[in-house]
Amino acid sequence: MRYLVTGGAGFIGSNFVRYLFNKYGDAAQVVNLDKLTYAGIRENLAEYEGKPNYRFLHGDIAKPEDVAEAYKGVDGSGVDVVVNFAAETHVDRSLMEAGTFIETDVHGVLVLLEEARKTNLTRFVQISTDEVYGSIDDGSFTESDPLNPRNPYSASKAGGDRMAYAYSQTYNLPVIITRASNNFGPWQYPEKLIPLFVTNAIDDLPLPLYGDGRNVRDWLYVEDHCAAVDFLIEHGVNGETYNIGGGNERENREITQKILELTKKPDTLIKRVADRQGHDRRYSIDMSKVESMGFRCATDFDTALRSTVQWYVENEPWWRAIKERSAEFKAYYEKQYAARG
Ligand code: NAD
Ligand code: DAU
Repeated sequence: MRYLVTGGAGFIGSNFVRYLFNKYGDAAQVVNLDKLTYAGIRENLAEYEGKPNYRFLHGDIAKPEDVAEAYKGVDGSGVDVVVNFAAETHVDRSLMEAGTFIETDVHGVLVLLEEARKTNLTRFVQISTDEVYGSIDDGSFTESDPLNPRNPYSASKAGGDRMAYAYSQTYNLPVIITRASNNFGPWQYPEKLIPLFVTNAIDDLPLPLYGDGRNVRDWLYVEDHCAAVDFLIEHGVNGETYNIGGGNERENREITQKILELTKKPDTLIKRVADRQGHDRRYSIDMSKVESMGFRCATDFDTALRSTVQWYVENEPWWRAIKERSAEFKAYYEKQYAARG
């Protein structure tokens, strides 16, 4: 199978490329198109550089010429499957500046879909998010529920999600859309809750918990997410949308407590700070649709969290290069947290 994976230098994209090579070996050909924004780290997949079935392409999904080059595949013969992970992904950053979110998460999707019309793809997977449904106090969203995105990131993702659907209906493209919940695991950029809190705890720095710490997220181990996307490439139905949840709803304060236990650090590191503006209270999705097709997440949450914490303990050089040597990260951290008190 010939894949074009966009955003493969990011967290989930790099895990997905590794998942494909582990599962399919040389039978998988992968082009990785990535803009290398602050969140893109080419070295995440360093072990595949130079292999005949892997090609890294530094480019932008919003630029037609970069996308046309990527669709040529590893060896010029084209691609069968496109999986679009490329996106601006951090809600807090979307509250500081939303323009790049629209450019990549909406316009970039359009450019990828336009190029798809010129080819003979068997599958185009638009990686959307459970955030497009908005917040829910009780119960869980199913795929047919209306979208109600409540922040600039999720509004942009909803635009890309519906553009992909529109192209499936209008031009009969073999599109499926996936809406996953909060991922965690190795190689996650340390701006997101779990890697930020784990690495701060290792360094005895405060863990900045927003608001009352009782917001709920459903945690999905990244390898289960990769397995679900792979499953849906084969079994998904054109034009359909699939929720992918972990079945692990937890309040943020509980996640924080577990991280402190696993890193053997005191509760005094918890620092209650000003809440995120428009902070969605609870995300919850019903994933019975994909389960009825035969897919099950394989990972136990506590085991996966322990191994994730262990990964950050064992891979300090990876995250210290970001937290201590990236001027961009330092400036972001200062701007994001200094004002929160
Ligand atoms: P990430 O921020 O770690 O990585 C994003 C990657 O996309 C980076 O490598 C970046 O360089 C690249 N990129 C950004 N703009 C680009 C552009 N214009 N052209 C090409 N590459 C570009 O993100 P992630 O957490 O791995 O998320 C991947 C996808 O999964 C996103 O679409 C996100 O919306 C979705 N998602 C994430 C989660 C989560 O919990 N992390 C949950 C559900 C859905
Ligand atoms: O639900 C899927 C989404 O999950 C993805 O689409 C997004 O790309 C991804 O970033 C994630 O969004 P969240 O906003 O839920 O993730 P984040 O890790 O930023 O925050 C998780 C929760 O932790 C949220 O309730 C806010 C809170 N939080 C976060 C940070 C960074 C804190 O309390 N303190 C923090 O410093």
